[in-house]
Amino acid sequence: MKKYLLIVGVLLVATPLVAGDTSPAKLLKGFEAAAGAKGSADRGRALFTGTHTGGKPETPSCTTCHTKNLKAKGKTRAGKVIEPMALSVNPNRLTDSKKVAKWFRRNCKSVLGRECTPGEKADIVAFLMSI
Ligand code: HEC
Repeated sequence: MKKYLLIVGVLLVATPLVAGDTSPAKLLKGFEAAAGAKGSADRGRALFTGTHTGGKPETPSCTTCHTKNLKAKGKTRAGKVIEPMALSVNPNRLTDSKKVAKWFRRNCKSVLGRECTPGEKADIVAFLMSI
């Protein structure tokens, strides 16, 4: 009985505090495998903070909504608050594979006018993990 309680206790402690079906590290591995290359936080930073053409003129950068300080809250163009992107301050980020897929698709199309490649996604995940 004691042993059983111990096992339950260990399982409870081991359960991540945030709900979700994935983790930043798992996503990074998946995107790297699909790209056949390692993600680079430096490339991710350049992509995320850079100004792009090809997408919607009103959203030239990921920072248009997420702001340049990724540890702070951002705002959609309609004024809705977006929680911080940096994993160091927001552990809920990149833990739900459907959410990640949906927003990558939508936001890359808005900013770049196309979907991001697996390599670009690996870079962005590496960047968000590094800050
Ligand atoms: C038009 C505003 C806007 C722009 C531009 C934008 N985003 Fe977002 N992004 C959002 C919103 C809104 C959400 C969903 C709300 C939330 O997660 O807080 C989101 C969520 C995300 C997520 C999901 C994170 C998670 O919680 O798992 C990722 C990844 C992301 N954005 C990446 C990007 C990248 C990369 C770019 C640039 C290519 C970008 N975003 C540009 C508004 C924007």
